[in-house]
Amino acid sequence: MFEQDLLAGKVVLITGGGTGLGRAMGERFLELGAKLAIAGRRAEVLAQTANELGALNEVFFQATDVRRPDQVESLLDAVAERFGRLNVLVNNAAGNFVSPTERLSHRAFDAIIGIVLHGTVYCTLEQGKRWIKSHQPGVVLNIATTYAQSGSGYVVPSAVAKAGVVSLTKSLAAEWGKYGIRLNAIAPGPFPTEGAWSRLMPTPELKRKLTGRIPLGRVGEHRELANLASYLISDYAAYITGDVITIDGGESVWNAGEFNILDELSQDVWDALERARQR
Ligand code: HXC
Ligand code: NAP
Repeated sequence: MFEQDLLAGKVVLITGGGTGLGRAMGERFLELGAKLAIAGRRAEVLAQTANELGALNEVFFQATDVRRPDQVESLLDAVAERFGRLNVLVNNAAGNFVSPTERLSHRAFDAIIGIVLHGTVYCTLEQGKRWIKSHQPGVVLNIATTYAQSGSGYVVPSAVAKAGVVSLTKSLAAEWGKYGIRLNAIAPGPFPTEGAWSRLMPTPELKRKLTGRIPLGRVGEHRELANLASYLISDYAAYITGDVITIDGGESVWNAGEFNILDELSQDVWDALERARQR
C-alpha cells in the first residue's frame, strides 16, 4: 500500500515505543524509511526492542518517565543531538487497569492521569515550543481510545485522561496550525497486547464477549494500526489536523446503536415477524 520511502528523512519519537502498539508502529515507520527514537521507563525493554528493530534502520532509545518534565526535556535534547531534529512525536505511553471506581484511591487516579494526560502534555508542550522557536513544522500523533469520547465505567481514570488528550489534540490543532504543527489522534478499539490484555481482560470469557460485539468479528492487528499511523504522520495527510480517527472494527458504532442488539434475532424470528406483518 505504501511507498517504501514514505517516511524517509523523518525523525520520529514514540513514547512507550518498547512494547505493544508503540513497538509495532516503530517497526512499520522504520520499514518506511524513518529514523526512530523510543522512550519508556524500562531501559532493558527499550534496549531489546532497539536491538531487534535496529537492523532495519537506526534506533535511538532513552529511559524516560513522561511524568517527569525534566526527563522529557532531557529526552528531547538527546533526540535532537542524535538526529539533529525531531519531525514527529507519537504520544503512545499509557497506563491503565480495570476496577470499580469506588475502590480506587486518589493515588490510583494520579498514576493514570500522570502517565496519560500529564505525560502527553509535557511531551507535546516541550516539543511544540522547540518547533515554534526554531520555525520548524511538526506532527503530533496521540494514541487515545474509543471510550475517550463515549466514557466507560471500570476504566474511569483512563477515560478521563484520554478525553483530556483528545481535547488537547483538537485545541492545539486550532492554535498551532499557524506554526505548521499538525495534531491528530487515533482511537483504537481492542488490539491484543501483553500490556493491555494482562491488565484489562481478567477472564477468557470477557475476551470472547468482546469479540462478539465487534461487527467485523475480530480484534485488530497491530500492523493495521501501524499503517494508519504511518499515513497520518506522512505528508499525504498534510491537510488533516485536529481529528480523531477510530480503528475498531465497528465496535463503537455497534455499542452506540440502540437496536444493534437485534443482531441476536435469528432468521426464523425475522421470518415470523415478516409473516405476521403480511397477515
Ligand atoms: C486498583 C491500582 C491498580 C489496580 C495500581 N493501583 N494498580 N488500583 N487496581 N490494578 C493503585 C496503587 O494501589 C496505588 O495507589 C496507585 O495506583 C499507584 O500504583 P503504582 O503501582 O505505584 O503505580 P505505577 O508504578 O506508577 O504503575 C502504573 C500502573 C502500572 C498504571 C499502575 O500498571 C503500569 O506501569 N502500567 C503501564 C502499562 C499499561 O498499563 N499498559 C496498558 C495500556 S492499555 P495506593 O493508594 O495504593 O498508593 C490502555 C487502553 C486499553 O491504556 C483499551 C483496551 C480496549
Ligand atoms: P503497553 O504495551 O503496555 O504500552 C504502554 C507503554 O507505555 C509501555 O511501553 C510502557 O513502558 C510505557 N509507559 C508506561 N508508563 C510510562 C511512563 N510513565 N513513562 C514512559 N513510558 C511509560 O500497551 P499497548 O496496548 O501497546 O498501549 C499502547 C497505547 O495504545 C496506549 O496509549 C493505550 O492506551 C492505547 N490503546 C491500546 C489499546 C489496546 O487494545 N491495546 C486500545 C486502545 C488504546 P514502561 O513500562 O517501560 O514505561
